[in-house]
Amino acid sequence: MQSLTIALAKGRTLEEALPLLARAGVAPAEHPETSRKLIIGSSRPDLRFVIVRSADVPTYVQYGAADLGVSGKDVLLEHGGEGLYQPLDLGIGRCTMVVAARRDFDYAGAVRRGARLRIATKYVATAREHFAGKGMHVDLIRLYGSMELAPLVGLADAIVDLVSSGNTLKANDLVAVEEIRPISARLIVNPASLKLKRESMQPLLEAIAMAVRAHG
Ligand code: PRP
Repeated sequence: MQSLTIALAKGRTLEEALPLLARAGVAPAEHPETSRKLIIGSSRPDLRFVIVRSADVPTYVQYGAADLGVSGKDVLLEHGGEGLYQPLDLGIGRCTMVVAARRDFDYAGAVRRGARLRIATKYVATAREHFAGKGMHVDLIRLYGSMELAPLVGLADAIVDLVSSGNTLKANDLVAVEEIRPISARLIVNPASLKLKRESMQPLLEAIAMAVRAHG
């Protein structure tokens, strides 16, 4: 029997990923959010889950430590997608990557004047590409979370971050001034696993694709 390992990350997308995987016939034996285990068995003897940080999911799959995984497009853009097959948009974890600034900051004016802006973000690669595409020179400041704080304390003029409900921006008196791109979670697959474990992999990929279609 060919065994399969699926990499998942704790957090928001997990709550949508689990029902989707359940519809495809795979469920973790323990809830990854509450379990302290990093390797969790499943409803199938040939399939297990590894629980990693969201930014690490592509790395585990790229090196074949996991055969497949669920990863946000935001994370994949930063990773670069090298050594990964991305067969499926899972349509979950939907949000938008935006530029956001303080309500009282004249972002459009600053862009028009060609001001050199300081941008705080954990999405450095995506932000660099976005501003280069607009012909803007920016100083990027790498943060690891709570980006919304940066413009409030003078660390940055604006941030590049994800917006879902908009509640975090609102609570911190920030507004989205530019949309960069829509984001959703993708299924990622190790290309060598796909070849070598095709017998187990193919039916699973088809079952997940069917679950996504049923989900609409
Ligand atoms: C994301 C993002 C924002 C927030 C937006 O962070 O970085 O802070 O969600 O969501 P909202 O528009 O619904 O308020 P998340 O909570 O995923 O944690 P993170 O900071 O670890 O990325």
